[in-house]
Amino acid sequence: MGKIILTGDRPTGRLHLGHYVGSLKRRVELQNSGAFDKIYIMIADAQALTDNADNPEKVRQHILEVALDYLSCGIDPAQSVILIQSQIPELCELSFYYMNLVTVSRLQRNPTVKTEIKMRGFEGSIPVGFFTYPVSQAADITAFNATTVPAGEDQEPMIEQTREIVRRFNNIYGETLVEPEILLPDNAACLRLPGTDGKAKMSKSLGNCIYLSDSAEEVSQRVKGMFTDPDHLRVSDPGKVEGNTVFTYLDAFCRPEHFAAFLPDYANLEELKTHYRRGGLGDMKVKRFLDAILQEELAPIRARRHEYEKDIPAVYDMLKRGSETAREAAAATLDRVRHAMRIDYFADEQLINAQAQAYNRKQS
Ligand code: TRP
Repeated sequence: MGKIILTGDRPTGRLHLGHYVGSLKRRVELQNSGAFDKIYIMIADAQALTDNADNPEKVRQHILEVALDYLSCGIDPAQSVILIQSQIPELCELSFYYMNLVTVSRLQRNPTVKTEIKMRGFEGSIPVGFFTYPVSQAADITAFNATTVPAGEDQEPMIEQTREIVRRFNNIYGETLVEPEILLPDNAACLRLPGTDGKAKMSKSLGNCIYLSDSAEEVSQRVKGMFTDPDHLRVSDPGKVEGNTVFTYLDAFCRPEHFAAFLPDYANLEELKTHYRRGGLGDMKVKRFLDAILQEELAPIRARRHEYEKDIPAVYDMLKRGSETAREAAAATLDRVRHAMRIDYFADEQLINAQAQAYNRKQS
């Protein structure tokens, strides 16, 4: 069946730089590498509803935003199938069968689920749908026979859970499902980009995000206000690079050619860090450098977004076609699953004939 990618995002907000370095940029590279036979990118609205049941409008509104973010980053619908999860009902049926292969205690041990339960204040009153979303994510992945799931490290427990379900299924019902592998970002700084305030993660509620759809001015404002080394009070003071958000972002975004273009006094990032550590390098200078790099990276994305924004019905049309294509693939997997589980009764002449014979014998 070849090498197949499946990955996705919950449509609960616009996508930001954390998504971009953590997965979006990589997806586009993977797409353009030609190394994959199929690429599916899922807007996981049904998963988003598992913890937004009371706010479906938020999810509904953000499907388009996420689609625009994908397109503007260079996901090309001619090469990658963009689909909306809820439009593939086959995923529900797969989830229903997979639920039997997972225990409650195994789900309780899933580190990502654990963290999210705390974050959402769900302790003691966990919605069942939310609790079981790792199972539904296993359906997302296996429905498309995905071999490769490019995602951030927070998704590792989901992929592990999927692999367990696949092994269990294949063990009981025979070799049917494909065991996927996660593909983590290759740059350590991209594993988890901190918020502009230095907090562990970009999050809408903390207001520490740089969005892909932000204007150039908004990006500059965010960079100006970025958390640095709180003890680096005077330019002449020695500064800390570790835990300094501006440098973490440079680790993620800076390439050697940026020095020639924007900061020719330094040959590379190591030189810049050394100077900062020694003292005599001001935060503003480093921030201006980062701002120039981010502007260069984001300008073409913003421009493409403006183009797509001119024809929103066409974007929905693309999503509809992607969902239809994806549905065909998922239906084929579901057929194989039903066959492996031997619940394809009406196609099972052996079953029907054997039972008919047995009853015939009884009658005579
Ligand atoms: N859980 C992912 C997130 O929160 C979204 C997602 C849903 C996903 N289904 C997936 C990611 C399948 C990878 C593969 O971002």
